[in-house]
Amino acid sequence: MQALPIFFNIAHRHCVVVGGGDVALRKVNMLLKAQGDVTVYSPELHADLQALLDENKIAFKREHFHANQLEGACLVIAATDNHDVNKEVSQAAKAANIPVNVVDAPELCTFTMGSIIDRSPVVIAVSSEGNAPVLARYIRTRIETMLPAGYGRIAAIAGEFRDAVKARFPTMQARRIFWENVLQGPMVERVLAGQEQAARKMLNDLIENADADKKQGEVFLVGGGPGDPDLLTFRALRLMQQCDVCVYDKLVSPEVMALVRRDAEMIYVGKARDQHTMPQEEINELLARLALGGKRVLRLKGGDPFIFGRGGEEIETLMARGVPFQVVPGITAANGVSSYAGIPLTHRDYAQACLFITGHLRDGTVELDWEAMARPQQTVVIYMGLVGLKQICEQLIAHGVSADMPAAVVQQGSTQHQRVVTATLADLAEKVEAAELKPPSLIIVGDVVKLRETLNWFTPNSESAN
Ligand SMILES: C[S@@+](CC[C@H](N)C(=O)[O-])C[C@H]1O[C@@H](n2cnc3c(N)ncnc32)[C@H](O)[C@@H]1O
Repeated sequence: MQALPIFFNIAHRHCVVVGGGDVALRKVNMLLKAQGDVTVYSPELHADLQALLDENKIAFKREHFHANQLEGACLVIAATDNHDVNKEVSQAAKAANIPVNVVDAPELCTFTMGSIIDRSPVVIAVSSEGNAPVLARYIRTRIETMLPAGYGRIAAIAGEFRDAVKARFPTMQARRIFWENVLQGPMVERVLAGQEQAARKMLNDLIENADADKKQGEVFLVGGGPGDPDLLTFRALRLMQQCDVCVYDKLVSPEVMALVRRDAEMIYVGKARDQHTMPQEEINELLARLALGGKRVLRLKGGDPFIFGRGGEEIETLMARGVPFQVVPGITAANGVSSYAGIPLTHRDYAQACLFITGHLRDGTVELDWEAMARPQQTVVIYMGLVGLKQICEQLIAHGVSADMPAAVVQQGSTQHQRVVTATLADLAEKVEAAELKPPSLIIVGDVVKLRETLNWFTPNSESAN
């Protein structure tokens, strides 16, 4: 290690920036974030720095550099585009024992700042000691994606409880064990889900009932998207890797399943058409029972849990049983599948509205609101409609939609097994039958379907192999 990483408190202290361009602007913003009192010295001033000056956020002297400007400074940053001036600043600062940073000239610096991940009060700085700043920025990006934005709030809430924890657990070891348990438990997820009051209550209860050692379970109702694992949200992935039990159904793709924590117990509850492995009421009860037994339960569903996913019924039961839960939306089949099929669901020239409809009704009949579906200038997306496809096409035509209306069926959209059949309403059912498309498949009806001819961008492996 060639430099000591330190966090330098500059709040309300005099900081000098030499230079008034866009590089100086970046540095000034950083110093302001850390609450420094910033004075800029430069013959010219960037418009955004001028705006900061107008708002009294910085001080400014329209002057060329001279060493007297450093008097009383706790640090100085040289950000001019003139190497000689930067060097002069560096020498003057070193002579006065003031820490100095010269942008892009590590040899002139006595300190560097690294790439910063700001989750205040948690702050991480990555340094490559000037060897590879781009690598440091790349590492920063990786860490950014791993650390949810709410980590700062967790630290802030933990800070609120520091004294209470200290009073309750007199030894450092007891406090360490307490915080380790808290930080691996449901309180963290409460904060990240924006439920800070619930998190505070939870922390309070944990402090008060520390001896009871009662593990509290919860349910994560997570949308796993249409199939491509890259379409998972950060939160979905994080919860998938934290669960004790995973209750999943058929629609979740194997690639998404592969990302669930390996040690988790897996419970398959089925849900293929007409062969529900477990009735919905039993699934609802199962989730509540597992969570009340202290487990972190991942209820993983394809697409979005609240779009033809019966997620609402599941959380109604949890609510009634007092089980804590959170819902993580997923990309629903309509938008995931249509994107990967190169079919925009709306388009200024063709469709100003979009209808999501289920083609599978409770008693197996296809009785839909045909008038609403037949309206012009809209796209109709039908979930679970493969079995009733012929009837759907006939009814739409009977209700006034042109037999030439473009339509598509997409099987396993967004995955490497995606298959797409496009046709008109008149011959879609026939072509789909000939192609032997299978569930899960989505029907898209509307003029937007013809855009696929030009916008088709995704080539699954299954197609490229042909
Ligand atoms: C019970 S619904 C669940 C929908 C899910 N909650 C969602 O938001 O996508 C199942 C239907 O979604 C559609 N579907 C889901 N994933 C699909 C995919 N990858 N490709 C085509 N259709 C899909 C099919 O119509 C399937 O029959």
